[in-house]
Amino acid sequence: LGKKLRIALDGPAAAGKSTIAKRLAEKLGYVYIDTGAMYRTLTYKALKMQTDPENEKELYEVLLNTIIELKPGTLGQLVFLDGDEVTNEIRSNDVTNQVSNVAKHPLIRKEMVRRQQELVESGGIVMDGRDIGTHVIPDAEVKIFMIASVEERARRRFEEHKRQGIESSLEQLQKAIEERDYLDSTREASPLTKADDAIEIDTTAMDIESVVNTILDLVKERGGSI
Ligand code: CDP
Ligand code: CDP
Repeated sequence: LGKKLRIALDGPAAAGKSTIAKRLAEKLGYVYIDTGAMYRTLTYKALKMQTDPENEKELYEVLLNTIIELKPGTLGQLVFLDGDEVTNEIRSNDVTNQVSNVAKHPLIRKEMVRRQQELVESGGIVMDGRDIGTHVIPDAEVKIFMIASVEERARRRFEEHKRQGIESSLEQLQKAIEERDYLDSTREASPLTKADDAIEIDTTAMDIESVVNTILDLVKERGGSI
């Protein structure tokens, strides 16, 4: 019988992390944790409370008094803020445009990483984010750094918005993705970066199925049960 592994999945915006992580978790019977949703939920609350995203101390106070819950639903992960469901609200443009400013503060990251590590337990988990392989689960059995060209990532988001009936412009989406990648990669506290022992997968020309299968092969190689 194989082991239950910890899979760390990092990469830039709209590379396909959450889609792939969700599928992997389903196939393997693992828990799926989208850590970006935690930063988005705090950002959503801060915007509602009119807390300045630059004010680290105040944000930290807010976070210490905030309950963020991630629960599995039939269509994916459900997100709750202080008991209220905010799954869709945290994907708004307002939140997307501010989340990197909230996520850059060391105090915020320290508390988020602490909460994420509590969720990891003994294994059987797929966690996606920016610093999972480098900080949250540095000893994960499988570490993936998923990339795709920025044009392809913008196109994927654009198609996703179209399917959901959200109006958006391809140029603006690409610009927003580039800005967020820049902020996430250049911040001082645990920036977006490939862990030395992570395997990079360029998904620009890959469909979802083949990315999932590539990672499942790695899981098998590392002794995971499939
Ligand atoms: O899904 P998408 O690529 O749009 O982003 P996300 O995974 O929901 O993450 C939103 C933002 O949260 C990122 O742009 C980062 O600023 C921050 N984040 C982070 O700093 N560390 C993580 N482990 C996950 C997300
Ligand atoms: O979590 P992250 O922001 O990295 O990306 P995502 O929200 O999982 O994926 C963005 C969009 O790209 C979704 O609509 C996926 O269906 C799509 N996608 C794709 O077309 N091909 C892939 N190989 C991976 C994702």
